[in-house]
Amino acid sequence: MSSNLSTVAYIGATILFILSLGGLSNQESSRRGNLFGMIGMTIAVLATVFGPQVTGGGYAWIIGAMLIGGSVGLYLARTVQMTQMPELVAFMHSMVGLAAMLVGFATFVDPSATKDFVGAAKTIHELEIYIGIFIGAVTFSGSVIAFGKLSGRVSGNPVLLPGRHWLNLTGLLVVIYFGGVFMNAHTVADGWTPLIVMTVLALLFGVHMVMAIGGADMPVVVSMLNSYSGWAAAATGFMLSNDLLIVVGALVGSSGAILSYIMCNAMNRSFISVIAGGFGTTSAKPTATAGGEQPVGEVTPVSALETAELLREAKSVIIVPGYGMAVAQAQHTVFEITKLLREKGVNIRFGIHPVAGRMPGHMNVLLAEAKVPYDIVFEMDELNDDFPDTDVAMVIGANDIVNPSAQDDPSSPIAGMPVLEVWKAKTSIVMKRSMASGYAGVDNPLFYKENNRMLFGDAKKMLDEVLTALKA
Ligand code: TAP
Repeated sequence: MSSNLSTVAYIGATILFILSLGGLSNQESSRRGNLFGMIGMTIAVLATVFGPQVTGGGYAWIIGAMLIGGSVGLYLARTVQMTQMPELVAFMHSMVGLAAMLVGFATFVDPSATKDFVGAAKTIHELEIYIGIFIGAVTFSGSVIAFGKLSGRVSGNPVLLPGRHWLNLTGLLVVIYFGGVFMNAHTVADGWTPLIVMTVLALLFGVHMVMAIGGADMPVVVSMLNSYSGWAAAATGFMLSNDLLIVVGALVGSSGAILSYIMCNAMNRSFISVIAGGFGTTSAKPTATAGGEQPVGEVTPVSALETAELLREAKSVIIVPGYGMAVAQAQHTVFEITKLLREKGVNIRFGIHPVAGRMPGHMNVLLAEAKVPYDIVFEMDELNDDFPDTDVAMVIGANDIVNPSAQDDPSSPIAGMPVLEVWKAKTSIVMKRSMASGYAGVDNPLFYKENNRMLFGDAKKMLDEVLTALKA
């Protein structure tokens, strides 16, 4: 393929990636967005493999790598559970970081990669290698720890070393100092020591940063590492002089940063403190006693039959799904109930919290899979004011996202987190198996409210019973 044709293919792929991102921002266009992304990636891979930079001898390696990588990817995509998605994403980020590191080292030792660079261009190229390996190493080790925490292999409790900010700052200064040594090295042999020292420090920094973060803040970390992996890919693009990789890396880097920002708002974390890596100290997997006043009173259990009765008599219903709906795989039954109630003229809507479940858009994906119409699925802000006019708010396997202590108890570990105000409905029904706390590990005073009912049991089983009762 000529270099002109490969440039045209790269531009086409870039446009498709931008269209893909645009498509993914809305449920209705997300399938199309996915398709654009897949076509864009196919074009990008083909244009790179058959492009001017690959010569005859390289094909065997490339095909071998693609077969191995493709098979692993296919296997993972087919076997991964929806609830394991965040850890899979963290694993993939670690691969991007590792790739950036390896490309950096390969570019450094390959004399043909640097022979065209002299003067300022050489300095810039060396800087690209140094920064590229740094970002790659932080992303790699940070993502490995994130994977460990999300999959339960590493404890979710934050590990806070004394003077950790000073440790980070000292590490950064040492990295900058060795950057100077690296730039002044005249031979490859001279450059090795500063490069290795910096890589070890960057790996330690990644581990230290993510180890310090508590379980409840992990979603933000995953999206932040997503952003880092984008910048690592962009750095790789600079090292390989590959424009497409630079553009795509920047797209991933900036969209990951925007997502982190949105999630920070949804979880009431400050973006700046996230970027500085100094957060999570107050949200260490809190115990029930961490949050000031304990909820008191009795809970009122309710049966599936009574729930069906309440729903039948309601004119307006808001369903708030959470992580438990995903675990129970109850979305199809939820839809059956929705259809039935809609046929009876009930105004039924879904309220989705931005961090419901365990990954961004988790609930939207499940509801779309069950074919719930998009026009009755609303974001939290769109219907939070409607609860006072709602007869029944049905909470299916959600906990933290409907916890009133986020508003009422300033000492609660989740204080300030925006929540769905289900307790303002005439009746709220919480469907879960026990009185256990949710992800953040805090008690929920909603359960004890006078107008709240608890439907104890597995969400799928309970909803099946409610459906049978509604049909009877
Ligand atoms: P959680 O607060 O984790 O509550 C889920 C509840 O579902 C649990 O209390 C559990 O109670 C119940 N449950 C589990 N399995 C069930 C089943 N089979 N049937 C019925 N109920 C079941 O979930 P949430 O309200 O969706 O809030 C999300 C939390 O996860 C937030 O703290 C958020 O910060 C965090 N988080 C979010 C993300 C993203 S990006 N969405 C990623 C990681 C973490 P029982 O055990 O009593 O049944």
